[in-house]
Amino acid sequence: MTNEELVSVAHQVLLGNYRSAPYVFTEGQGCRVKDVEGKSYLDLCAGIAVLSVGHSHPDLVRAISEQAAKLMHVSNLFYNDRAIELGQELVRRTPFSKFYFCNSGAEANETLLKLARRYHYEAGRKERTKIITAFQSFHGRSMGALTLTGQTKYQEGMGPMVGDIEHVPFADLSALRKQLDARTAAVILEPVQGEGGVVAASSEYLHSVRRLCDEAGALFMLDEVQTGYGRTGRFLASEWSGVVPDACALAKGIAGGFPFGAVGIRQELALGLPPGSHGTTYGGNALACAAALAVLRIFDKERLVENADQVGSYLGQRLQALAADPSVPAAAEARGVGLLRGIAVAENHDPGAILGEIRKRQVLLSIAGGKVLRFSPPLCVSQAEIDEGLVVVEAALRASKPRK
Ligand SMILES: Cc1ncc(COP(=O)(O)O)c(C=O)c1O
Repeated sequence: MTNEELVSVAHQVLLGNYRSAPYVFTEGQGCRVKDVEGKSYLDLCAGIAVLSVGHSHPDLVRAISEQAAKLMHVSNLFYNDRAIELGQELVRRTPFSKFYFCNSGAEANETLLKLARRYHYEAGRKERTKIITAFQSFHGRSMGALTLTGQTKYQEGMGPMVGDIEHVPFADLSALRKQLDARTAAVILEPVQGEGGVVAASSEYLHSVRRLCDEAGALFMLDEVQTGYGRTGRFLASEWSGVVPDACALAKGIAGGFPFGAVGIRQELALGLPPGSHGTTYGGNALACAAALAVLRIFDKERLVENADQVGSYLGQRLQALAADPSVPAAAEARGVGLLRGIAVAENHDPGAILGEIRKRQVLLSIAGGKVLRFSPPLCVSQAEIDEGLVVVEAALRASKPRK
């Protein structure tokens, strides 16, 4: 069957809530995917920063197959050995002393929200229910995560939102200072706003937020769903600033494509969610944890966090040069950290049309913040693959005609 034929079947049977491009993929290897017609694409999107070790890494495939043949799930009525092992690994690699496992980024952020309120409640501070997040943030689509999300377009027609959640401009300390008060439970931010357009917070800002939260008696939590797990060239993006949050949401790349979310929690908050207060049936099942453990082993064996740093810096330099080149007026500004990068398209050019051209030339990217061509490739991407992708991206930017 062709892409077109299968897409028409998809239109009949799949809910039309996505704006999926008309490509049907059937297999992948490393940084390449193939569509149903056998055409190969260079994948610099990686399922929106998910395929951390690339498509179908043999070690990940083996770990999932072996675990599936052994034990997949027992529920949290019991323990499983793989979840305990994963918890130990993550405690060793992060500043957190406890981990909670779930299945997605939205779920991880729901957990941050509930932990923030319940932690204060358990300590007798029942009035601390206010949560502050940033405009242009993205935290997921479930009602709590959607309310945290500071972009009204995602909330349209979904109201009423969850109560007592306020938004402030990102990187604006005085706005935050005005909102922080004796009723604030937590401030939740992304270290780099991914969906908002690949906008990085400065180290000074994050340090100041940490200090203001401490002074106000509020928790400081980070949503590292997109930035965590090596994506920025450090295991956690917060390592760039040295700021340690009270809790941190992770998802996307953790299990290399297998659905997984996690929350890392500092010891002080460990009693914030007492037995029975929160949970999910699939969370931390043996199969997902085996996938997550395999990803960590691949990271170590192939030094993928270091690769994200090195190849990410190279990509950053190339994007800076493109943005500074007056002969490419459609390229306005380079952004990002590590292998979470973007190039903002100039106001008078059409980002959607440019992305369409790039995809037609068999390179996969995504758009963030409406106008930023986002690069979020597998962490195993090589410099040669980046060069190959940039030839196409540059050609599409050069060919773009300004809008009338
Ligand atoms: C920073 C951030 N938080 C949360 C989410 C939601 O994750 P999920 O789609 O797995 O629910 C995303 C997804 O793009 C994200 O980028």
